[in-house]
Amino acid sequence: MPSHITVKKKINTFKKIISVSGDKSLSIRWVLFSSLANGKSKAKNLLMSEDVIAAINVIKKLGIKVKFKNNLCEIYGNGINGYKYKENITLNAQNSGTLGRLILGLLINTPYPIKLVGDKSLSKRDFKRVSDPLSKFGSKFKLQNNKNLPLTIVGSKNLKPIKYHEKKGSAQCKSSVIFAGMRTKGTTVIKAKKSRNHTELLSKHLRLPISIRKMKSYDLIKVRKVYRIKKLNYNIPSDISSSAFFLVLTALNKNSKLLIKNVNINHSRSGVITILKKMGVKIKFQNQKTYNGEKNADIKITGANSLRAINCPKNLNSGAIDEFLVIFLLAAKANGISYFKGLAELDQKESPRLKWGAKILKKIGIRTITTKDSIKIYGNPNIKVNKKIVIKNFLKDHRVFMTSVIAALSFGGTWKIYDKESIKTSFPNFLKIINKLEN
Ligand code: S3P
Repeated sequence: MPSHITVKKKINTFKKIISVSGDKSLSIRWVLFSSLANGKSKAKNLLMSEDVIAAINVIKKLGIKVKFKNNLCEIYGNGINGYKYKENITLNAQNSGTLGRLILGLLINTPYPIKLVGDKSLSKRDFKRVSDPLSKFGSKFKLQNNKNLPLTIVGSKNLKPIKYHEKKGSAQCKSSVIFAGMRTKGTTVIKAKKSRNHTELLSKHLRLPISIRKMKSYDLIKVRKVYRIKKLNYNIPSDISSSAFFLVLTALNKNSKLLIKNVNINHSRSGVITILKKMGVKIKFQNQKTYNGEKNADIKITGANSLRAINCPKNLNSGAIDEFLVIFLLAAKANGISYFKGLAELDQKESPRLKWGAKILKKIGIRTITTKDSIKIYGNPNIKVNKKIVIKNFLKDHRVFMTSVIAALSFGGTWKIYDKESIKTSFPNFLKIINKLEN
């Protein structure tokens, strides 16, 4: 099986209704919370991607039983202290920063050293950002190069609550410390720059001892020790980050129309919607409902006649952090110069995404000016690509792959895009849905 795909033709106008797979952040959090609950938790529409399967394998290694029945996943939690810590355990987070960072918060009471490993991409990423605050609780870490995986964690019996200021807007760091706070007597206090808040909403839904005060640019979160978590049945809504590829594909194709069913539109995740609207795209929510504290809706979008350039406000960065690569394609076709700033975190992802954004735009003939945390994109409303383009060596970053496919279908040219299997980490159905839009 070739690991690349070839795209030779722009997509024709389409009018379709689609469903995309379950939200990745919620799927991983459901697995982790359920692994600590008392009794059997069930999930429908759990994302069956490699990141989530890695989370399931991690909790299985910690002694938790998991079963699949038809389209249900069942996790048999043994309570908050139900992990079976043993000597010589190695856990593999594979490609998932979310799994790798969140699980460490739950391991801060392990009496034995546990080794955490990941794939090539994850092994390049910063784990000091979580080992630093988690060490303050009393656990001990040894990291490769003081920063990376593989790492070893040994927990402590005498955990002490901490005060932590999360300055990057990283939900992974915030959530890891929330989990550690749930294992620790006393009150852990977190001042967190705004970031996705699924961990807090799930904790509230489960009535765990957590309080959140929302300030303008940060949240003040207080967590106390958790003694019991009730089982958590959950119907996972669709992922807005996966939906974003189709939203952009539609926006770039005048006269196309798309309805995406039951997507999680949590305000801390929906930056892409605000950006699309600011750029002049007609997009709206239908059938809005609140489910277990999360807002979900169908998203209806119409292809734009023309796109406005955007000077993207920094306060949208965290809510669109996983979508920027594909958003840059909108800027490529916009009328005028778009400017995205304060995006140093983009280069901390599965691949250095700010650099990859600029590389893809250069390949399609769009001028950019980048600094280490910003990009200016000189849009061309008449953009047309006629040449051969090869995309490879991107550390198998699923979002680089999918963004390249959307660029090929929207702007033309003959594209050879490598590492097709990368989509398995977050969105195994991606190419099937593209097929559905083409036919
Ligand atoms: C995630 C948080 C974000 C995001 C990632 C998923 C999460 O990372 O990029 O894909 O589920 O908590 P950071 O918290 O590092 O910004």
